[in-house]
Amino acid sequence: MSHNSRRHFIKNLAAGTLAGAFASAAQAQTMLTPREMEGPYYPITPQKDQDADLTRVAGKSGVAQGTHIEIAGQVFDHEGNTVEGVTLDLWQANAFGKYHHPHDTCEAPIDEHFQAWAIIQSGEQGRFRFKTVFPGAYPLNANSQRTPHIHLKVSKLGYDTLLTQLYFPDHPLNHKDGLFKRKSAQEQALMTVKRTKRENHYLFNLVIQKIPL
Ligand SMILES: [Fe+2]
Repeated sequence: MSHNSRRHFIKNLAAGTLAGAFASAAQAQTMLTPREMEGPYYPITPQKDQDADLTRVAGKSGVAQGTHIEIAGQVFDHEGNTVEGVTLDLWQANAFGKYHHPHDTCEAPIDEHFQAWAIIQSGEQGRFRFKTVFPGAYPLNANSQRTPHIHLKVSKLGYDTLLTQLYFPDHPLNHKDGLFKRKSAQEQALMTVKRTKRENHYLFNLVIQKIPL
């Protein structure tokens, strides 16, 4: 990383959050965001409303059930440069732990006011934000549950497409979750959103790999 881009990168981190941990945060954030499997519920039912507010569905007057949260962040490449025009394709279970997907047969209810799927773009300085509900945990079988998480597919021409999942800090199910617990502590930290001073507001930065020309 050049001196200028590193300085710019650290400045961006400082502007975001993480007071008192600049050096370690900058070092950690130059690591690529760890990958995770896509899972079985990538949306397959077309929907018109794919905007950054998943708590409302266009044409309906109600709002999604559950705790409304906002997640904001920036996309960087592995050298610390911000990346604009990145597509973030994200999907998750609703507040009851139900995917709006025909193959999700669990008994939890569909929430007709929850958008469930969004496709958004990073803007200036790689910034993005979206509003959603805190995802419910959902059962895998009689003995295990997936801890709350959000699936992300991050893509841009000239960069390796990243499939990952983001997690929430200190959730009691995290360390019982088969996918989360097989990651190293460092990987877990890179995949976990950070709380801010605002209630129900989180930060999550992504680092993707530029394909060398
Ligand atoms: Fe999932």
